[in-house]
Amino acid sequence: MAIDYSQKIPNNVNLADDRTLQRALEQWQPNFINWWDDVGPENSTNNEVYLRTATSVDPQGWAHFDYVKMRDYRWGIFLNPADAERKIDFGDHKGEKAWQDVPGEHRANLRRIIVTQGDTEPASVEQQRHLGLTAPSLYDLRNLFQVNVEEGRHLWAMVYLLQKFFGRDGREEAAALLERTSGDANNPRILGAFNEKTPDWLAFFMFTYFTDRDGKFQLAALAESAFDPLARTTRFMLTEEAHHMFVGESGVSRVLQRTAQVMNELKTDDPALVRAAGAIDLGTIQRYLNFHYSVTIDLFGADQSSNAATFYSSGLKGRYEEGKRVDDHVLKGQTYKVLEVQNGQLAEKEVPMLNALNEVLRDDFIKDSVAGVGRWNKVLEKAGIATRLVVPHKAFNRKIGALAGIRMSPEGRVVSEEGWKQKEKEWLPSPGDFAFVASLMRAVLEPGKFAAWIAPPAMGINKNPVEFEYVRFG
Ligand SMILES: [Fe+2]
Ligand SMILES: [Fe+2]
Repeated sequence: MAIDYSQKIPNNVNLADDRTLQRALEQWQPNFINWWDDVGPENSTNNEVYLRTATSVDPQGWAHFDYVKMRDYRWGIFLNPADAERKIDFGDHKGEKAWQDVPGEHRANLRRIIVTQGDTEPASVEQQRHLGLTAPSLYDLRNLFQVNVEEGRHLWAMVYLLQKFFGRDGREEAAALLERTSGDANNPRILGAFNEKTPDWLAFFMFTYFTDRDGKFQLAALAESAFDPLARTTRFMLTEEAHHMFVGESGVSRVLQRTAQVMNELKTDDPALVRAAGAIDLGTIQRYLNFHYSVTIDLFGADQSSNAATFYSSGLKGRYEEGKRVDDHVLKGQTYKVLEVQNGQLAEKEVPMLNALNEVLRDDFIKDSVAGVGRWNKVLEKAGIATRLVVPHKAFNRKIGALAGIRMSPEGRVVSEEGWKQKEKEWLPSPGDFAFVASLMRAVLEPGKFAAWIAPPAMGINKNPVEFEYVRFG
């Protein structure tokens, strides 16, 4: 299980025994570094960052922290250990042995799944590349960089699968993953949310809370895959993903804590006064939440999808926590309720469950994200503030699937196009909101100091104090 760091590409997959693959990956490696230099964290080359690096894939292998220049981070290939007896848990091949190779008939679909997942990883690094210039503290700067290097490693994870199992097509896809760029008009990233801007740290915290959580659910569904190397690599990626969501959840909590403190000191809930005092008003935080939530739930795809049915039945992609569910894990003849637009209103409709599996995963995601919003509200409750954050209605601001065909208020009231235009500024971040948040974004680089719009964390990283020097500038 230990990772061999003596190799040019650290790995626990005996890469040295597969010369062709090793050569292909060693050719891809300098292109990856060029990509990192071009569109990775801006102005960060000389920074020494207190980073966590996996030394093995078991839990103890996670305790390794040290100062690293990010360019020298040991990106590599780490799979969870193989279980020679592993069986397929769902779909038409249920009970059969998991596959160690790609069956010819599923090759195109598996490649597409791996490319789509792989494309999100470098995309988020690109989206976040300017944030290091305005970090609210060294602690936060280090967390941003930890997320960035790990997303880089997630790209490696997918590139390994492409190059090992998909021959020349796989090598071409691996190259293309470094060619698409987030937000690029001519060659954008594959999925919508990964072409949006992450212009400021509030957006970053919302992104890591909601959009990295989409990552968690997609990876969890792929961790069930009959294609065992995909299952093993996504299992290890999930352990890294947990930290990303922690950054988002604790980040928003700390913003709320600071806002509540200012509101209490000034005895006001007037957004203008809160802003004048240098904190972010709750209305702006709610609008950011509305945006990131709605854009993220679009990532699960169309509510009815024959691809989703095929992916499940053929064993490529399971459900979240497939093993914990008590049903036949085949799902033929079962139904699921989805929403559709009928005469300008939403109506429930029962459809074959296999076709609704995107919606099933989206609903699991929604449950999970609502729980964390409840924890944010505890911060407000504890501070004696009456306002609560709420996740908007599922049909709010949707661009994908049946619900894209309706205008809906966050509370779930159907509105006309005209009504939408009037209220949009109250429901989604306006140019004024972005400008205000941008005006707060200034780098705070003194150990233990924090920008005025965010509270310090309760504790530091790896049992270090909050005022630890998490990043050194060379
Ligand atoms: Fe990732
Ligand atoms: Fe992530």
